[in-house]
Amino acid sequence: MTPQYILVNGDLRTGVSLSGPWHWSLDPYRDGLYDFHGKPYDPTKGRAMDISVADAMAKNPNALFEHDIHRAPVTQVPGSWIGYDPETRHYDGLMWYLKTFDAPARSAKRVFLRFGAADYRADVYLNGQKVGSHEGGFTPFSFEVTDILREKGNNLIVAVDSKRSADTVPPTITDWETYGGITRDVRLVITPQTFVDDDFIRLTKDGRIAADVALEGAGKAGTAVEVAIPALKLTLKGTTDAQGRVSLSAAAPKSLKRWSPDTPVLYDVTVKAGEDTVSDRIGFRTIEVRGADILLNGEPIYLRGISLHEEEFGTSPQRIITQSAARALLGEIKYGLNGNYVRLSHYPHSEVMTRMADEIGLLVWSEVPVYWTVKFDSPTVLKAAQRMQAENILRDRNRASIIIWSIGNETPVSDARNSFYTAMAQHARAIDGTRLVSAALLSHRQIVDGRIDITIDDPIVPELDVLAVNTYNGWYGNDKIEDVPNTVWHSASGKPLLLSEFGADAQYGHFDSEHHSRFSEDYQVDFYNGTLAMADKIPFLRGMSPWILKDFRSPRRQTTWQEGWNRKGLVSETGQRKRAFFVLSDYYKKKAAEE
Ligand code: GCU
Repeated sequence: MTPQYILVNGDLRTGVSLSGPWHWSLDPYRDGLYDFHGKPYDPTKGRAMDISVADAMAKNPNALFEHDIHRAPVTQVPGSWIGYDPETRHYDGLMWYLKTFDAPARSAKRVFLRFGAADYRADVYLNGQKVGSHEGGFTPFSFEVTDILREKGNNLIVAVDSKRSADTVPPTITDWETYGGITRDVRLVITPQTFVDDDFIRLTKDGRIAADVALEGAGKAGTAVEVAIPALKLTLKGTTDAQGRVSLSAAAPKSLKRWSPDTPVLYDVTVKAGEDTVSDRIGFRTIEVRGADILLNGEPIYLRGISLHEEEFGTSPQRIITQSAARALLGEIKYGLNGNYVRLSHYPHSEVMTRMADEIGLLVWSEVPVYWTVKFDSPTVLKAAQRMQAENILRDRNRASIIIWSIGNETPVSDARNSFYTAMAQHARAIDGTRLVSAALLSHRQIVDGRIDITIDDPIVPELDVLAVNTYNGWYGNDKIEDVPNTVWHSASGKPLLLSEFGADAQYGHFDSEHHSRFSEDYQVDFYNGTLAMADKIPFLRGMSPWILKDFRSPRRQTTWQEGWNRKGLVSETGQRKRAFFVLSDYYKKKAAEE
């Protein structure tokens, strides 16, 4: 399921940004794709035509056009259309975009159009030609446009359709807002004729610096490759094989400072091949499971984390994750909560976020949106999910912060789901055998001898390196919070367990000291105290990512205290810290002191 072009480091490598002002035009009846009898219609004869309607009508006043994207409103890309205009706040459908630009000087080089993400499906047209389509709202995709570009006035038209269905990943029903649109940066990436398409550079468990490099282009075979890490005085050299690939390694120099949350050391690494040079900043660390322990650089670690959706602080987030937005969110986890870990749920977050985790030192759980009821018996849906997995892993394999690839969240157990999940776990390991594979599971709950009794007996457990369970006893269901600390947990696997979610809604500033009623901050504090007391008694627990750092938009949450927001955040959407924030931050401070 590997994409045609990986363009590793595509967010930073040589090129030109196309982010900024774009025209946008609604198409609720999809008449850019279908005619009035619903028959498929070639957009290059309509909305994706390579013309200026104004010029065409000036030339022929009798000509009829009923769309004119060159004179449509303008917005800033990246960002979701829920912020463009009051009429697009709840829009869920097809949107057309136009960006007109002059080609960068590039001589005989190759040019690729790279999108950081577009949610959910994108069809891309350049100068009246279709260059390609992409499915999936959270991973990068690229198309070569070398021979379609012209010097001046390139018309890039993109149709983005946010509509999901039972056949999409995720399906229609989720517990988060759909942020339709071109939600991450768009760039022209410029490369030599033969270029570094992929590299995977890491520290191996046997103490070697390893580099797998793959070239693309006519000259990919038999080309000299150099991977240099100047600060380590280390240069790996080799020559690519007939497929344009080479694997290099050397013993790690004694001077190597391993990456960790406490020491997030990143090294400048340069990959040279022929005329191409790609530079990155990479941390070197190892991660593994030994019995019930998770070992970072050979030492047991407890993951002091929290979950996070891709939504910036503010009263009306539009999924614009700038460096300062990412720093604000991850900084609150690291410095506010005394955390060392973040679960980036429920889909691959922006590369701005994963690079920020590398920089400030947070371990990361990365996840593909196999969420709730995906169509598990469909080979097409499995292919789509594995494609997203490949795009996610190939984008982020050089990010030291990422230690876990999650294959999904709270999916109902069935034979079809078990084989889907097994295929996902195997596919993740095939692309990256160095990280741990997990999934956020539901568990088997009953009352035994008057106590809550939880057994982790999901049939997918043998496929996972780390178990993870979402547990809401004391919020969902009838358990009383006072019964939660005495919960008994059973797991026959001997594998480490993470509590991947637990949480309770509370509206910031809403207190009920008398009754501690639901949605009050008092209730949320009680819930955290009860659940953390339970956590202390689980012998094979090695970390947690409570649900969730920040209140986030969800159309499924419509009580007085919610009004379209899921309020399980420990901070409000504008970052106001609730009382429970300090319960967790004190708990982690003590945990950190025990290390
Ligand atoms: C579920 C789910 C989350 C959801 C949360 C909740 O476990 O994984 O996506 O937001 O619980 O109910 O708040």
